[in-house]
Amino acid sequence: MRVLGIETSCDETAVGLFDTNQGLLGHLTVTQTVHTAYGGVVPELASRDHVQKILPLIDALLKQTRTRSTELNGIAYTAGPGLAGALLVGATQAHGLALAWQLPTIGIHHLEGHLLAPFLEPQAPTFPFLTLLVSGGHTQLIRANALGQYQLLGDTLDDAVGEAFDKTAKLLGLPYPGGAALAALATQSRHPDRFRFPRPIQKKGLNFSFSGLKTAVVTLLKTLEPVSSEDKADIAKAFEEAAIDTLITKTLRALEQSALTQLVIAGGVAANQTLRTRLTHLALQQGFSVFYPRPTFCTDNGAMIAYAGALRLSRGESTTHLSIRPRWPLPVLSS
Ligand code: KG4
Ligand code: ZN
Repeated sequence: MRVLGIETSCDETAVGLFDTNQGLLGHLTVTQTVHTAYGGVVPELASRDHVQKILPLIDALLKQTRTRSTELNGIAYTAGPGLAGALLVGATQAHGLALAWQLPTIGIHHLEGHLLAPFLEPQAPTFPFLTLLVSGGHTQLIRANALGQYQLLGDTLDDAVGEAFDKTAKLLGLPYPGGAALAALATQSRHPDRFRFPRPIQKKGLNFSFSGLKTAVVTLLKTLEPVSSEDKADIAKAFEEAAIDTLITKTLRALEQSALTQLVIAGGVAANQTLRTRLTHLALQQGFSVFYPRPTFCTDNGAMIAYAGALRLSRGESTTHLSIRPRWPLPVLSS
């Protein structure tokens, strides 16, 4: 079965082509630049940009992979959660093409896409496993028992970790979205121990909180005025360390409590090299396995949607009516 995947939930227009016999055949992503001037995603601009990009991107992918529409067996699209207008662009495109090409469609949960992305890699986990899902909108610890059977173990009480990276990056004068730029700036720090931000990890349980960390950055910046580029690099390093320490402490706690031995890290923040390196070392020391997608499949992409769609369509599932769910909790997915 060969499935086209369409992702338009936020500010990436992305497509992927997955074949259940041959694996991933191709994928293309265009990151919108229209939002940079606004310091955050402007929903209406996102929708308009998706409208312009999506068809040429599908066309380019089919050409690149030498695939004719008659060779497709289904179309998968991100149905939620995400920006309503942006989701609608992908959903209407999927249903329109499916009608023209007489194919089944399937609406996919964006986070299920992220969670299954490590299955696109040669080293893939097996169910059950623990997932640390870290993106611009989510910071969750999820027990994945089987396809569609997910149990939320921990969530953020305020900002998502990617959001905290982006807000801190903005405070340091970096363009939106600044997570990757902040991580790059942190590598420039010549005094990595100069500042130490609080780690709100003493609290019991598996929930996260990141708003205090951002406030600590604001407070420190005020005391340093005027802030030099050296200061900024040291702050970026201290912020990254505090955020990652928090993620790791809760993740290790969840592994211990759940008795799971496989950990998946997914979502945009999983592209962070410091997080990946530290968890890889800990996995070796503590005897668990860690899986993460390549960095381009950590951030939003069409390959993960094509993959999740292929699994669900293969099981005979389909979405007959055009539907989107801008708010859609992951654990209520059907198996
Ligand atoms: O999964 P994703 O592409 O979109 C959402 O579903 O939110 O994640 C985007 C988030 C942004 O907050 C971005 O700043 C962050 O992932 N991000 C990073 C890195 N690369 C992307 N955060 C920290 N370090 C990185 N290397
Ligand atoms: Zn995402």
